[in-house]
Amino acid sequence: MSFNTFGHMFRVTTFGESHGPAIGCVVDGCPPGIPLTEADIQPYLDKRRPGQSRFTTQRQEPDAVRIISGVFTDERTAVQVTTGTPIALLIDNVDQRSKDYSAIKDSYRPGHAGYAYDVKYGVHDYRGGGRASARETAMRVAAGAVARKIVPGLNVRGALIQMGSHKIDRARWSWDEVGNNPFFCPDAQAAKAWEVELDAVRKRGSSVGAVIEIVAEGVPAGLGSPVYGKLDGDLAGALMGVNAVKGVEIGAGFAAAELSGEQNADEMRMGNDGKPRFLSNNAGGVLGGISTGQAVIARFAVKPTSSILTPRKSVDRYGSEVDVMTKGRHDPCVGIRAVPIGEAMVACVIADHYLRQRGQVGESPAWPFKKSGG
Ligand SMILES: Cc1cc2nc3c(=O)[nH]c(=O)nc-3n(C[C@H](O)[C@H](O)[C@H](O)COP(=O)(O)O)c2cc1C
Repeated sequence: MSFNTFGHMFRVTTFGESHGPAIGCVVDGCPPGIPLTEADIQPYLDKRRPGQSRFTTQRQEPDAVRIISGVFTDERTAVQVTTGTPIALLIDNVDQRSKDYSAIKDSYRPGHAGYAYDVKYGVHDYRGGGRASARETAMRVAAGAVARKIVPGLNVRGALIQMGSHKIDRARWSWDEVGNNPFFCPDAQAAKAWEVELDAVRKRGSSVGAVIEIVAEGVPAGLGSPVYGKLDGDLAGALMGVNAVKGVEIGAGFAAAELSGEQNADEMRMGNDGKPRFLSNNAGGVLGGISTGQAVIARFAVKPTSSILTPRKSVDRYGSEVDVMTKGRHDPCVGIRAVPIGEAMVACVIADHYLRQRGQVGESPAWPFKKSGG
């Protein structure tokens, strides 16, 4: 009923809110025997952690994760592995300043979830957005790190491809560049221009939106369940479930509407490895809701950060009209920190479908098939 859990076989339940003592998650369904320590999880959390450049919030959240359950060090191998029981992960909240929010405790910040939560629950946790805060996404990232270990050969990477109205030049895309700038931007030239742009936005106390692209390679063909458990449907749901996300595309996405049938169909030939070779990937690696073995490609758009310094018209809990200006420490572009979150959601969905495929089908059929009587 309360929907704090996602996934079927790889099942993640998160708990906690922005200004509580801790946030955490329980990952249930992870197979046993997978080596897992905090060191496997922490690097992904470090990518999402704020305060790493002047372009993200200056809140200092070290986000040090602890594994509370679900692992055991086998004496014979001295390796800490998953036991197949629920993996509980915990992160202490250490940099909350609830008083930043006391001036607006009865007002709804436009663009935030305050009004919608209050009208539904009648309880207004005004401290940093409560459960609606993107603090919760740290646990998605932690769960994603576990998910990545489940599918052999899976490589999920993300990049910021548009900030505000400024797009990258895809011809200059370099994955190596993504780690070289504070934006996870694959185009070095665009990243330089974005620095100037975002500095100006930040100094105005304003904000901009962004588009993020996630590419998952090594996704085996055959994942996804027609017709209500489609891989692309679940990816869209998972990405749309991230704070501030207002749009999701798979493959060519909305641009597919402008293509002709000839342009859009991903033609097939046989590759030297005995597997089909697609001549393009407008489908984003999914046909009929099932992975084809091509890279799975998803894109999502995040809105500009709602917390800005310019006063905005709003109302309070008691039905009076007010003007709200948000103080506190905020990201001028939440899209930057959304990159590792998007990667994690895609990894979780793929791990879930991988385990579902193993559960229902076991070994995939040997393709190509032999003609009968041939
Ligand atoms: C990584 C990340 C950080 C965020 N930080 C902020 C923030 O500092 N200030 C803000 O107004 N919104 C922030 N948001 C967005 C809000 O959490 C979100 O807009 C709000 O909860 C309302 O939900 P909705 O936009 O999904 O409808 C952030 C989102 C993400 C993904």
